[in-house]
Amino acid sequence: MSEKTNIVITGATSGIGKALCEYFAKDNIVYAGYRNEKLVEELKSISHNVIPFYIDLKLMDSIAFAANFIKVKAEHVDCLINVAGCVVAGAIENIDIKRIREQFEVNTFGHLDFTQRLLPLMEGGRIINISSKASYGIFPFVSPYCASKRALDIMFNSLLLETHRNIKVVSIKPGVIATPLWGKSIDENKDNIDAAIGFEKELDYVLESAKKNETYGLDVMEVVKVVKEAADTPNPKSSYTVGWDAKLAEFAAKLPQEWLNKLIKAGMNAKFKHSHHKLNN
Ligand SMILES: NC(=O)c1ccc[n+]([C@@H]2O[C@H](COP(=O)([O-])OP(=O)(O)OC[C@H]3O[C@@H](n4cnc5c(N)ncnc54)[C@H](OP(=O)(O)O)[C@@H]3O)[C@@H](O)[C@H]2O)c1
Repeated sequence: MSEKTNIVITGATSGIGKALCEYFAKDNIVYAGYRNEKLVEELKSISHNVIPFYIDLKLMDSIAFAANFIKVKAEHVDCLINVAGCVVAGAIENIDIKRIREQFEVNTFGHLDFTQRLLPLMEGGRIINISSKASYGIFPFVSPYCASKRALDIMFNSLLLETHRNIKVVSIKPGVIATPLWGKSIDENKDNIDAAIGFEKELDYVLESAKKNETYGLDVMEVVKVVKEAADTPNPKSSYTVGWDAKLAEFAAKLPQEWLNKLIKAGMNAKFKHSHHKLNN
């Protein structure tokens, strides 16, 4: 994008969203979504091009209010980057169903609602979703997160196929990125982890991985590079992966379900040594 354009980013206060806000605000007007009032000044200090707006994707009124705020200020949205997200983890047998609904409210329905409201301003523009390698749906014990990202990708890909508007839609699927997401997910999933009776070894492993992710993940700039490509190139692909782990997940998800399940079960048996990790057949 060469001349100054209007970019809308949700989840702009932390991790990937903040890095995108810093990058795009150099040459564009960035409408930056926040939940935490305490972070507004920090957003404003990035650049005079940053216009913060309040949005909580769990609250429908807040989504409507945020979209109206942007409609009043901007005649056109050139690029909407849906970034905000959280992770709900646990054993599917006893995870609180309310938490699964919340997972979809934030990662899926909230983005769809916000996007629908901004579509009339987006002729000729593009929508870039920060999905995840989790969208390939192959990770037990974080299945609410996987399902929310898969559902997001399915519905936005449908938007791309169905729309009569001149709008491009892109899904970016990063592997593990070093951001505060992982530490927050440990705190937010405490109840689900405590409830996962009989799955202690598995959830300990998920927790340990989450702790490591925050340090060993790729730098946020790897995602920024790919978003930049998706925003700038005349004909973006509909899906991009970031990192070797995302590419591996993409490949694994192409295997027949039975083969994939056998591989995953074998890995789980070796790691957790439970005799009950058997396949149906
Ligand atoms: N980090 C990774 O390894 C990774 C990999 C693949 C995909 N992703 C995806 O990348 C996106 C950004 O994650 P991140 O890693 O940068 O994590 P992060 O640092 O935790 O940032 C998440 C952002 O989303 C906001 N948010 C959370 N819940 C919200 C809600 N209900 N309403 C509005 N905003 C909300 C957060 O605001 P608060 O500060 O108020 O919580 C924060 O600004 C997410 O969609 C995530 O699924 C991350």
